[in-house]
Amino acid sequence: MRDAVCQFHALCEGLAALELRGLMPPGREKQIWRDALSGRPRAGRGRAMGSLWAGFGSLRSDYPRPDARSARRPCRTVEGLRQHVLVTGGAGFIGSHVVDALVSEGHRVRVLDCLEGHAHVGPPPYLNDRADYTWAEVQDEVALRRCLAGATAVCHQAAMVGLGVDFKDVLDYVRHNALGTATLLRTLSRSGFGGRLVLASSMVVYGEGGYRCPVHGPVRPGPRSEEALRRGVFEPPCPSCGKRLRPAPVPEEAPADPRNVYAATKLHQEHLCVLFGREARVPVTALRYHNVYGPRMPRDTPYAGVASIFRSALEGGSAPLVNEDGRQLRDFVHVHDVARANLIALTRDEPAPGVFNVASGDPRSVGEMARTLAEAFGPGAPAPVVTGAFRIGDVRHVFASTERAERLLGYRAEIRFRDGMREFASAPLRTSVGPVGTASLTG
Ligand SMILES: NC(=O)c1ccc[n+]([C@@H]2O[C@H](COP(=O)([O-])OP(=O)(O)OC[C@H]3O[C@@H](n4cnc5c(N)ncnc54)[C@H](O)[C@@H]3O)[C@@H](O)[C@H]2O)c1
Ligand SMILES: [Zn+2]
Repeated sequence: MRDAVCQFHALCEGLAALELRGLMPPGREKQIWRDALSGRPRAGRGRAMGSLWAGFGSLRSDYPRPDARSARRPCRTVEGLRQHVLVTGGAGFIGSHVVDALVSEGHRVRVLDCLEGHAHVGPPPYLNDRADYTWAEVQDEVALRRCLAGATAVCHQAAMVGLGVDFKDVLDYVRHNALGTATLLRTLSRSGFGGRLVLASSMVVYGEGGYRCPVHGPVRPGPRSEEALRRGVFEPPCPSCGKRLRPAPVPEEAPADPRNVYAATKLHQEHLCVLFGREARVPVTALRYHNVYGPRMPRDTPYAGVASIFRSALEGGSAPLVNEDGRQLRDFVHVHDVARANLIALTRDEPAPGVFNVASGDPRSVGEMARTLAEAFGPGAPAPVVTGAFRIGDVRHVFASTERAERLLGYRAEIRFRDGMREFASAPLRTSVGPVGTASLTG
């Protein structure tokens, strides 16, 4: 059976290659499978198809009547399922670690990445020489079809990230994130993809995290007013009684409340993927990463996360500038843990459809993160400065409930905050372009 399934994948790739070379009309794949598996090959018996028909013949005797969608399961190895994964955005910070994790476990990996101009100045030095790379946009359906040949799973990391400079970035975010995802899904739908889809989503879809009022219990505060922020009142009040709230972990079922363009496009990606999954009966797992840090993070741009902005400041001999009063809480999760969450979602025996927080479960304040990083940087490092500055649209506290990911996905972070920050203090960062930004707390 194992050989038959491997052979099945070889045949899928063969058909896709014929289609790309113009030797098989587009969209004929399903008919050819039907004919071949019923033992009555009729269509397209040209010379180029000869060896494929022979392959179909032995597949038929080893593996009678698989239906094309359910048979597109990966081959089984001693360790588990050997997947053939397309990683979009696999040259990026998180995607590249996902690629490394998959390759080191023996999976086959193809990357589609456009080396997007806000993120890269060229191919980064850390690419994995055991993965195949295609430099193209996810909006490019021809490139996508080529990369999808034989794929048993898709890991969709490609996106334009961060808060951006201002609203004028809106078209770029919508093009890369919304249109890119829509094109990927339409291509998967057209090709009859029956594997699993894992989406890189983000905690930004929540807006503010969880809060409890001593009188009203769990509440959802709205955006903080500019006037309150100017007065240095950073805590959002209870929307019903105005009392001070206690921050609480945010569970996946919390209502979405995107507060900026990037967040709106991440939520849109989730919605599109879930709709596709329902129609195509493809298991879709959306991983809502919290604040990811680690090696290969881009240097300080408005598209980078707060940890790399502090790291870049320390490297340049300046103090990290901490917004508000530094007491805002986040969940900083190491990129190796995030890559492992993807590996689990992509390769565990049974897919785990649904939405999951991917976090450390150990919330810290931004001020503490700046201090820990500065200490780890060395004795001469300048101490962080708490500035009281603020950014409209930033949320006060957001950190994860990790219960669902532990229970249903079998994922739990392993790298402890202090160990991760110690490593991050000297980890290689990625050179990217763009004006120097203020500390963005989005991811
Ligand atoms: N870094 C974080 O803290 C964080 C937090 C939550 C979610 N995420 C999500 O994780 C994913 C990866 O983010 P990252 O931090 O590694 O960012 P990154 O910029 O390092 O990586 C994104 C990669 O996608 C590529 N890309 C962008 N648009 C593309 C397109 N249209 N076609 C093909 N490739 C394209 C870029 O070239 C880049 O290599 C994103 O989906 C992001 O929204 C990141
Ligand atoms: Zn109240």
